[in-house]
Amino acid sequence: MSSAALRLAAAEASDGLLRCPPAEVKGAGPGNLAGVVWRQWRTERALAARGVAFRSTDPAAVEAAYAAMSAEEFDAVNGRQAWANWRTIPASLDMLLPDTPLKAVDLGCGTGGSTAVLAYCLPDGSEVTGVEFAAPLAAVAGGREYPNRAGRCTVRFAVGSVCSPLTDADGRPFADGAVDLVNSSGVIGHHLTGGDLAACLDETARVLRPGGVAALDPGPRLSAGRLTELTTARGLRRVRRTRSNPFDRCGQVVFVRT
Ligand SMILES: C[S@@+](CC[C@H](N)C(=O)[O-])C[C@H]1O[C@@H](n2cnc3c(N)ncnc32)[C@H](O)[C@@H]1O
Repeated sequence: MSSAALRLAAAEASDGLLRCPPAEVKGAGPGNLAGVVWRQWRTERALAARGVAFRSTDPAAVEAAYAAMSAEEFDAVNGRQAWANWRTIPASLDMLLPDTPLKAVDLGCGTGGSTAVLAYCLPDGSEVTGVEFAAPLAAVAGGREYPNRAGRCTVRFAVGSVCSPLTDADGRPFADGAVDLVNSSGVIGHHLTGGDLAACLDETARVLRPGGVAALDPGPRLSAGRLTELTTARGLRRVRRTRSNPFDRCGQVVFVRT
């Protein structure tokens, strides 16, 4: 059977929904978790010695700390997140969206690690916008390749805050209901609180179309239960909880816009 025929057969078997089983996808990401953890530990020590503290909820401090890292340092301190992304994001997306070109937004995309997972998994012809307020990281993200397993996705980056009106890469605000998928990996539950968190969730609810999906990360600053309360109050319905492994305390909670 040709690959086109195989894809058609798979689409028919899944009622035209995007299939994204983590077991088929994770091989495209970083392996060797022990090496990832070692590089992260070593780099965090070196950054601490330079006074670069990125585990904060003060937006100015977070932006300054991430902007002070080299791309290599960022990728090292984000290593476990990158490893987890290749397992969590596919599990979050599997069988929830149509297997047709989609518009996606990746909140707080850093150097494009989570964006790369989205670009790999989404249907051929999809458009992904990464939003990042640390301009040097967004510049690195803009210089990467984003392979897609089925064809090609367009990937662009907007420099800005995820707590302000979300825009495309040309600075045009997304219209209400213009987006099929909002993803957040290592951002909401790590860095946002109070009014910033509320503003980010308001924007997520605003840009999503009915039936659109939000895959959002709880974390050290935000429990999955509280994230669910805040999002359901904004017209989203919780559909599943995903994790990279049984010991993962963050992962994502997945919601559908009603
Ligand atoms: C842990 S990193 C995760 C990067 C990426 N999502 C990934 O999984 O590889 C968190 C990122 O969120 C960005 N960030 C934090 N708060 C933000 C905000 N209010 N607006 C835009 N970006 C933000 C940081 O600059 C950083 O790049």
